[in-house]
Amino acid sequence: MTAEPLEIHLTDEDLGRALRADVRAGLTAVPKWLPPKWFYDARGSELFERITRLPEYYPTRTERAVLAEHAGQIARITSVKTLIELGSGSSEKTRLLLDALTGRGDLGTFVPLDVSVSALRQSTAQIAADYPGLRVRGIVGDFTRHLDRLPTGGRRLVAFLGGTIGNLTPDERATFLRSTRTALEPGDWLLLGTDLVKDPGVLVPAYDDAAGVTAEFNRNVLRVLNRELGADFDPDAFDHVALWDPGRRWIEMRLRARSPQRVRVPALDLELDFAEGEELRTEISAKFRPEDVDAELGAAGFPVRARWTDPDGWYALTLAQA
Ligand code: AVJ
Repeated sequence: MTAEPLEIHLTDEDLGRALRADVRAGLTAVPKWLPPKWFYDARGSELFERITRLPEYYPTRTERAVLAEHAGQIARITSVKTLIELGSGSSEKTRLLLDALTGRGDLGTFVPLDVSVSALRQSTAQIAADYPGLRVRGIVGDFTRHLDRLPTGGRRLVAFLGGTIGNLTPDERATFLRSTRTALEPGDWLLLGTDLVKDPGVLVPAYDDAAGVTAEFNRNVLRVLNRELGADFDPDAFDHVALWDPGRRWIEMRLRARSPQRVRVPALDLELDFAEGEELRTEISAKFRPEDVDAELGAAGFPVRARWTDPDGWYALTLAQA
């Protein structure tokens, strides 16, 4: 089957408006910050795919191993008719779930939701071609805003993989999980991928690789601002910084001005100064203890039914039920 036309809940105009609001709020704040979702233009998505193949970046391959090991059990427990994937990106690992669910003959529809039209075009076309008989309905949307647009009815499983929930602050996570619960009916399922707390000697290199791919990914957000808002950032004038905050249990990525910088952002009529050494926070990537995952899911109305980890306990897949 061919994929259905993408359902667009985020137009270029919406995206532009959201980018301008985020950049104005973040770059005029003290300290300066930007939300990580703006990393992912075509080049940023490509750099992220390269990150997932780096020797230091263990989350993707660890999650894939856990999924490969337990997808059959997930399919047996849930036996859903509809699989919804939030922040689906390339949906590459999701194929393990699709294989298991279609193998049982239950699954009728796959609904990937992502902000990236280009990623969705590719993934929906490929999945539709590879899974004959599966209805593929891609949704262009923001998982923090468009959960009320998900298809209703039938037994549904929402998959939120890759540890992307770690990009949200604790407050944002509580709001996100509550909205997800509201979008579902009792008995529906949530499969959540979370990176777990571990030795900083493993965590930090995963966000500061020897080949410098993560540094380029980080600087890419400045290129996005240059292109979309006419800004004049010099990406090479900023150093990549990755640090582990043991109290908040998250990795922070920052860009540190190597020298004083004056930056103009014409689309916002904004002029910004960076002092030498001043840092702009570009991402948090929270790491969890298994009991934190249970507590956050429980508080949002999702009792946990099962959890699987790799043998080292580096990464968890948690299955919860609405
Ligand atoms: C896609 C959000 C899961 O936080 O590990 C990878 C993004 N940032 N390297 C993560 C990322 C730097 C990634 N997530």
